[in-house]
Amino acid sequence: MNWEAVYHDAKQWVKEAGERIRLSFQQTLTIKTKSNPNDLVTDIDQEIEQFFIRKIRDVYPEHKILGEEGFGDQLDQLNGTVWLLDPIDGTMNFIHQQRNFAISLGVYENGIGKIGIIYDVVHDEMYHTLCGNGAYLNERPIAPLKERGVKESIIALNATWVMENHRINHQILIPLVRDARGTRSYGSAALEMVYVATGRVDAYISMRLSPWDFAAGAILVEELGGIVTNLRGEKLDFLSKDSLFAAKPGLHQDILKNYLKNGNW
Ligand code: IPD
Ligand code: CA
Ligand code: CA
Ligand code: CA
Repeated sequence: MNWEAVYHDAKQWVKEAGERIRLSFQQTLTIKTKSNPNDLVTDIDQEIEQFFIRKIRDVYPEHKILGEEGFGDQLDQLNGTVWLLDPIDGTMNFIHQQRNFAISLGVYENGIGKIGIIYDVVHDEMYHTLCGNGAYLNERPIAPLKERGVKESIIALNATWVMENHRINHQILIPLVRDARGTRSYGSAALEMVYVATGRVDAYISMRLSPWDFAAGAILVEELGGIVTNLRGEKLDFLSKDSLFAAKPGLHQDILKNYLKNGNW
């Protein structure tokens, strides 16, 4: 496989998709709900996924595609080359704020991450890596991550997890929230992972995400020396929903051992 060529095509298609999304700001969105009234999807989410599928199938017909909106393939294994796509990560922000959302695209070969691209469309900021060659924000190299202690850390996490109807024991997170310097919530898992990759936050915790939410982010964070697992400290499975914990080196081990180990995640 000529990975440089795949990388080039992937970045090109992400740029084009971003342009389409920016143009959509002039039109009226069709908004539908999915599993619940706050689980939203628009015609643009669907159009962008279909745009990528057309491009990928045309140039790489032997590759598989797993996309959030379901226009790709149904997969039960990750053999071969698989594109994991979230056409708009942060749809609620896209609808309400016209910002704080991203295109997330990860390309895997037999389950191993090769290419990670996250595009902050509104800021025209593309974070990308071809594994082993460093990661970039547009043309600028991103510096590798350095260790940091909990007390100097900003942790991205979402306050909706405090609701009692979740089966998880959220009380476990109280000491972590107390000890950290601060917490943040941006409403886009892909952007939150890219903020870990660039050091804007030091860790990101989510109780439940899907493979297309974290596929590209995991590649970017790991390329910069960060660590990505589920909340039990296990390797991620790119075919199942799972919890997610991405952090700087050192901080990841510290939080797992001293704060998360008794959780029922
Ligand atoms: C959602 C966002 C959000 C996260 C949700 C995801 P979507 O993705 O990443 O930050 O908390 O769990 O489903 O639906 O906007 O692509
Ligand atoms: Ca969604
Ligand atoms: Ca998503
Ligand atoms: Ca999405």
